[in-house]
Amino acid sequence: MTHTTPVHETAEWQALEAHHRDVRDVHLRDLFDQDAERGERMTAEGAGVFLDYSKNRVTDETMRLLLALAEARGLRGRIDAMFAGEHINVSEDRAVLHTALRLPRDARLVVDGQDVVADVHAVLDRMADFCERVRSGAWTGHTGSRIRNVVNIGIGGSDLGPAMAYEALRFYSRRDMTFRFVSNVDGNDFAEAVRDLAPEETLFVISSKTFGTLETLTNAHTARDWVLAGLGGDEAAVAKHFVAVSTNAERVAAFGIDTANMFEFWDWVGGRYSYPSAIGLSLMVAIGPDAFGDMLAGFHAMDEHFRTTPFERNLPVLLGLIGLWYNDFFGAETIAVLPYDQYLARFSAYLQQLDMESDGKHVDLDGRQVEVQTGPIVWGQPGTNGQHAFYQLIHQGTKLVPCDFLGFVETLNPLGDHHDLLIANLLAQTEALAFGRDAPEPNRVTKGNQPTNTILCDRLTPHALGTLVALYEHKVFTQGTVWGIDSFDQWGVELGKELAQRIIPELQADEEPDLRHDSSTNALIRRYRAGRSRAAAG
Ligand code: F6P
Repeated sequence: MTHTTPVHETAEWQALEAHHRDVRDVHLRDLFDQDAERGERMTAEGAGVFLDYSKNRVTDETMRLLLALAEARGLRGRIDAMFAGEHINVSEDRAVLHTALRLPRDARLVVDGQDVVADVHAVLDRMADFCERVRSGAWTGHTGSRIRNVVNIGIGGSDLGPAMAYEALRFYSRRDMTFRFVSNVDGNDFAEAVRDLAPEETLFVISSKTFGTLETLTNAHTARDWVLAGLGGDEAAVAKHFVAVSTNAERVAAFGIDTANMFEFWDWVGGRYSYPSAIGLSLMVAIGPDAFGDMLAGFHAMDEHFRTTPFERNLPVLLGLIGLWYNDFFGAETIAVLPYDQYLARFSAYLQQLDMESDGKHVDLDGRQVEVQTGPIVWGQPGTNGQHAFYQLIHQGTKLVPCDFLGFVETLNPLGDHHDLLIANLLAQTEALAFGRDAPEPNRVTKGNQPTNTILCDRLTPHALGTLVALYEHKVFTQGTVWGIDSFDQWGVELGKELAQRIIPELQADEEPDLRHDSSTNALIRRYRAGRSRAAAG
């Protein structure tokens, strides 16, 4: 195995450390004063996405050094390796090919001896056919009723993508149908999702890459019971009210779903990268196969931009390197993503999994401890709501919070001057954050120098959503590549899952269990059991 140099030992990293010492106190006011063209020059555009990165605490030299770091870390080769289907997910020995999910039908990509484009389009065709049957009413429920409700059951990547995208593209969705997304093992989630639905009109899409996830299987069994209880207990109803999306046909069959009603994807699609796969089935029912295809074309446009554009104009590369500059050199722990569009209400939540599950790693590809900060904490809410909640801290607190502001030039719902007011607020916030304001009273001083990216698209279309999601996917990849980590595994989530399996029988045992946890966990288990017994006694 060839060992790569740890990133902090590279000459390029050390050059950035020295440069940071020179520029860390420079104010954005001065950078703008010194360069009248800065706001027009420090921009880039591709796949219908415009990025203004001028309000960042970077000079031309900063950008040159960051780009040199990307080159030195082999980003070009890693991009090519990912797109070619090499097994860059080393800890799981898998290809990472979410980009193949959005290749056009006439493309060809053979990986491990298999034409993956043909496989992808065969599933897309089956999905389209199924969606058309549900949307037209040709697919009926067990009693012959039309399907009016679609409930996706999944969690993590099998929920966040379709749920976010359904909200984002609700404008394009079937308004005479109801779409719900159940993820939490908390029964409150399922109960509220179905309380006003009729079982005979409801279709469940059970979405799970592994079909072994506790939350999803628990909810799926509850859904099965709910359907059967509502439809007289005839097991034949399952075939009409349940379809599955998974990579694991055996487990789907074991659950009782006919694999003829299963939509496949592949282990080279990571869960958090999976919503352009069959995991998007509920979304496709909502918006239709054509709009889903437009969304895939948007993903592909950004994929091509990332694959082919020189790094100094490459949007994901620029976003990744600028984010890394704050994360690693200024010590910023978080990044706020602030979409100025209510339809993107769940975008930041989606990005949390994408980024934090991908780059929340502490060892590098050679198994060594990483000596620098890796993935940031991602958070955010749509503007303008956040302005009246947490922006105060960004303006006047003591922390550095880099922000991405996202907006659209055209609104989908032209109502009076709402949209101008919305966009005026977006622009005003980035201006205030960058330049601040002096005042005689210290408590009124806004220091400014808070960095922002402004990302603009024309209009929130399925295509635009695809480009934006792919933009962040590749940003995360860019950062993971520079740090030299595996952005595609997630071993850290396993320990909690195993411990839960041990605790479940301890909570449910009739006899007092022999508890062998720490004293805190033991006491909490006893307290829960005692409280539950009291509640049961009435
Ligand atoms: O626990 C984390 C995780 O494995 C995610 O990576 C994944 O998106 C989620 O669980 C759901 O997994 P599955 O689709 O296999 O049910």
